[in-house]
Amino acid sequence: MYVIIEKETLAPKITRFVVQAPLIAKKRKAGNFVIVRATETGERIPLTIVDSDPVKGTITLIIQAIGKTTHLINNLNTDDSFIDVAGPLGEPTPIENVGKTVCIGGGVGTAVIYPIARALKSAGNRVTSIVGARSKELVILEKEMAETSDELIVTTDDGSYGVKGFVTDSLNKIITSDNCPQAVYAIGPLPMMRAVAEVTRPHGIRTYVSLNPLMMDGTGMCGACRVTVGGEMKFACVDGPEFDAHQIAFDELIARNNTYRDLEKTALDACARELDEAREVPHG
Ligand code: NAD
Ligand code: FES
Repeated sequence: MYVIIEKETLAPKITRFVVQAPLIAKKRKAGNFVIVRATETGERIPLTIVDSDPVKGTITLIIQAIGKTTHLINNLNTDDSFIDVAGPLGEPTPIENVGKTVCIGGGVGTAVIYPIARALKSAGNRVTSIVGARSKELVILEKEMAETSDELIVTTDDGSYGVKGFVTDSLNKIITSDNCPQAVYAIGPLPMMRAVAEVTRPHGIRTYVSLNPLMMDGTGMCGACRVTVGGEMKFACVDGPEFDAHQIAFDELIARNNTYRDLEKTALDACARELDEAREVPHG
């Protein structure tokens, strides 16, 4: 059983869990993910491993409650357990010393970029990080990203904190300055990653993004996570999750990810009703 050792709310609907998983903690590298199941009949969802402590045998996961399963997970507490945590899965991020790098985390994607920024810094790169969120209350891991970066820029869409605007506005400024990077790593919502790719493409800057399409088995067998990269079909779970952003068919991926939106909303509404009813039942 994968016992929850710590639980912390980082922002509205965004929760950090430290989970006992000693074998995964020993083997994981930056960029790896796990597939978790909260209950026996529950859906399997992929989550990037944000951090690990091989001595304590724990891994850190950060989860945004957006669908039924993620809401159920965020209702788990310390001493509760996940039924399954399978991993580490996926190809680790290729980490080299390329010189100047920019790491971009959009919203909860900051949790995924953090281990990559740390690995790039340890490999001797200059790391400029951009952390973007819709508003101040949704900025996460600011302290951790500051500690691991040579420079940190925080942006908010509404200007309630840091620089007003999208992460791509700040990226544009860096690219046209003396600090133009050799590589950009960006993780966040798909429209953000597509926009980053379009900013770096004309400058020929190597750009990597991490994709989180629907996943089931996580072993390359079911085909649920297929994406088109460079005109070829790839499976995000075994060939990725990181890919060259300039080669990804983003429109196709966005359309595929929207396929189950209505069903997901129905399931989420039903789940919210069940949770509300459970809260109203007096315990005795
Ligand atoms: P969000 O919608 O609040 O966006 C975060 C930031 O991204 C914004 O503040 C802005 O700076 C930037 N951004 C968004 N749209 C943009 C655009 N069109 N152009 C330029 N910049 C843009 O983010 P959120 O609500 O935290 O994101 C949730 C999404 O991130 C979910 O859809 C989730 O699936 C995805 N996600 C992806 C990964 C991954 O591995 N790729 C990991 C975690 C979450
Ligand atoms: Fe099944 Fe990737 S999740 S092939």
